[in-house]
Amino acid sequence: MSESEIRKGLAGVVADVTAISKVNPETNSLLYRGYPVQELAATQPFEAVAYLLWHGELPTAAQLAEFRTTERRHRALTPEVKAAVDALPLDSHPMDEVRTAVSVIGAFETAGTGSVLDAVGTPEQNLQRSLQLFAVLPAVVSYGQRRRRGQELIESRDDLDYAANFLWLTFGEEPHQAVVDAFNRSMILYAEHSFNASTFTARVITSTLSDLYSAVVGAIGALKGPLHGGANEAVMHIFDEIGSADRVEEWLDAALAEKRKIMGFGHRVYKRGDSRVPTMKAALDTLVEHYDRPDVAELYEKLETEFVERKGIYPNLDYPSGPAYNLIGYDTLTFTPLFIAARIVGWTAHILEQQASNALIRPLSAYNGVDERHIEQYEPDT
Ligand code: ACO
Repeated sequence: MSESEIRKGLAGVVADVTAISKVNPETNSLLYRGYPVQELAATQPFEAVAYLLWHGELPTAAQLAEFRTTERRHRALTPEVKAAVDALPLDSHPMDEVRTAVSVIGAFETAGTGSVLDAVGTPEQNLQRSLQLFAVLPAVVSYGQRRRRGQELIESRDDLDYAANFLWLTFGEEPHQAVVDAFNRSMILYAEHSFNASTFTARVITSTLSDLYSAVVGAIGALKGPLHGGANEAVMHIFDEIGSADRVEEWLDAALAEKRKIMGFGHRVYKRGDSRVPTMKAALDTLVEHYDRPDVAELYEKLETEFVERKGIYPNLDYPSGPAYNLIGYDTLTFTPLFIAARIVGWTAHILEQQASNALIRPLSAYNGVDERHIEQYEPDT
C-alpha cells in the first residue's frame, strides 16, 4: 500500500458493518436500531433505550419492568470497589477513578476464570455484565463527585428510576421532573454513535478475545481525550473563561489568533451540524428556564453564532451538554464520567456484536523509517 492510499486517522474508512446505529451526515440523522434518536429522547426512559440497543427492540411493559428490577439489584458499590476508589488521591481525574472502578469490578467478576482462553465468557454472561456495569456506574460517578466535595456515599432509592436515582445519588435530593427529563435525554443522546474512537477501541480489544471489562477500560481511556468525550469538560472551561455573552467577540478574536481549537465544535463525521445538538439544546433550554439562568443561553447562542459565522464549523453534542450538566450542579470534572455512564450501553452493545461475528482487527502500516541497516560487529550464525 502506498502512502498516498493511507487514510490518516482512518478518516472515511468503513471498518465493518453494525446493526446498532446508523449515522447519516447527509440527512443529519442518527438512528438507534432504526429509530431516530430524537424520537427516543423525547419519549423513552434511558432503561428502554439501553434495552433497545442491546436486544434490537424496545421492551414491552413487562420486559421493561423486569429490566428495571434487575437494574435496581445491581446499583450498589461493593466495599471492594469503594475501597479502591477511596485509595485514589482526591485530585486524581474522575475519569481515572471510573476507569479504576471498572477494572476492579472486572477483576472480581472474572475471578476464577483461570486461563485467558476462557476470558471472553458466554454471550449471556456478557449481556449480564453489561447490565451490571450500566446499573453500578451512576453510583461510581456520583460517589466520585461527592468524595471530592467531602460528602458521604448515598444509597440508591428503589422507588426511583435510573435517571432520577442517578441525580439522587449525586445530590441527595429528590430531583425536579424537568431536571430528570433533561438528564434522561442527555443520557440517551450520549448512549451510542457507531464507530467513534472509544467504541472502536472497545471493538479492537474485544477482537483479540479479551474480556468485556478490559474493552470497557480501554474505551474509557479513549473517551478521556478532549478530542472525544473530554470535550464536554473542555466546553465548560471555555464558558468559565469567557464569563458572559458581551465578552464573546473579544475572547474569540484572541482564541482564533492563537489558533486555539474551540471545544464543542466540529465533528469527524457531521460537517453540517451534529444531529443530536437540537435535542440537547432543547433540554438545555428547559434547564435555563427551570434555574432561571438566561445568561447561560445568551453566552451559548452568542458563541455559537460568532464561531459558525467566522469558521463555518458547527457545535457537537458536547457543546449543549457541558452547560446543561453545569446547571444541574455537576462539577466540570464529572462531565466526561457522565458520558461514560451513558456510552457504556453503546460500548457493550458493540462488544457483544463484535463477539458474535469476530475477526481480529489488525490493520497494516506503511513503513517510512530509515532503510535497512546492520550492526557492524554482528556475525550471523552459520
Ligand atoms: N475549533 C477550531 N478549529 C477547528 C475545530 C474547532 N473546534 N474543529 C475543526 N477545526 C479546524 C481545524 O483546525 C482544521 O483546520 P485546518 O484545515 O486549517 O488545519 C479543520 O477545521 C479540520 O479539522 P480536523 O481536526 O482535521 O478535522 P477532524 O475531522 O479530524 O476533527 C474533531 C474532528 C477532532 C472533533 C475536531 O473538530 C475538534 O478537535 N473539535 C474540538 C473537540 C471536540 O469538540 N470534540 C468532540 C467530538 S464529538 C463527541 O465526542 C461527542
